[in-house]
Amino acid sequence: MKLLVVSKIDPDALAALQATHDVVVAINPDDDTLVSLIADREVLIFRSGVEITRRALEAGRELRLLLRAGSGLDNIDLAYIEQRGIDLQRVPGPGAQSVAELTFALMLALARNVVTADASMRAGRWMKSELVGHMLAGKTLGVIGLGNIGGKVAAMGSAWGMTAIGCVERPSTGRASTFADHGVELVDCDEVIARADFLTLHVPLKPTNVGLIGEAALRRMKPTAFLVNIARGGVVDEDALLRALREGRIAGAALDVHATERDGYRTPLADLPNVVLTPHLGASTVDSQREIGREIVRILSVLVTTTAPSLQEVSTPR
Ligand code: MLT
Repeated sequence: MKLLVVSKIDPDALAALQATHDVVVAINPDDDTLVSLIADREVLIFRSGVEITRRALEAGRELRLLLRAGSGLDNIDLAYIEQRGIDLQRVPGPGAQSVAELTFALMLALARNVVTADASMRAGRWMKSELVGHMLAGKTLGVIGLGNIGGKVAAMGSAWGMTAIGCVERPSTGRASTFADHGVELVDCDEVIARADFLTLHVPLKPTNVGLIGEAALRRMKPTAFLVNIARGGVVDEDALLRALREGRIAGAALDVHATERDGYRTPLADLPNVVLTPHLGASTVDSQREIGREIVRILSVLVTTTAPSLQEVSTPR
């Protein structure tokens, strides 16, 4: 099959694909490049970091499968895909544990001043008395979005001795009792925001979630609370966050996802000492990417098998 790979995927998976398919690789191409490369391609493999526009999809006249090597679908024109009936498959499972673990890394980095401590040591300073931190145990962990990833974060928080509370888009008594069985209290999102000592975000970027954590939500948070955004950049209003941090209305924030994600851009949040920034690394572990890669290879081999003409068809003279 003719594949176009526009994001970095596991090297073993890429090698396996290259051994059996006609593969073009162009990592994070701009729209013009994408349009020119996609013309004869049957399968597009992508992650975040590349915008799959309607123009590019229209240029991909042979496209039959769009393969998301991960979870989020905010960088592709879903309405057009549906209208044209192109198959879209995701591999959301394997990245969830990695994202949940990075959530903890960021909470700990904030709570224990890890980044400042490291920078001060490198500068030859011994800031032991200045860098007194906070424990996670005994604190309230507020999780916005208790799906695949948020559910894991809540369960991990509970195991660490945190009080885990969370909210979902469609709450019900049944769901509340299922979460309660796992030690997580289901409440409404305003209550999560107001009660959390550590507030973590795990919702997809869709119109109703744009700016979900904006001026009003930030004013509802405790002045001692930390915010972790590992969902999508647009879920937090970063201008409002900058104001809240500058005015000391919350204790700190860690962002793995950003309104602007590209090389060469420096966010104004980087000027603040109580901010930790990472470049969208949530699912970027060798382990998760290896599993995602294996699944991609499997999906494509099934596709080849199910669409290959049978021997009879091949050998029957026309
Ligand atoms: C995802 O949605 O799966 C993550 O953002 C990982 C990624 O694509 O880099």
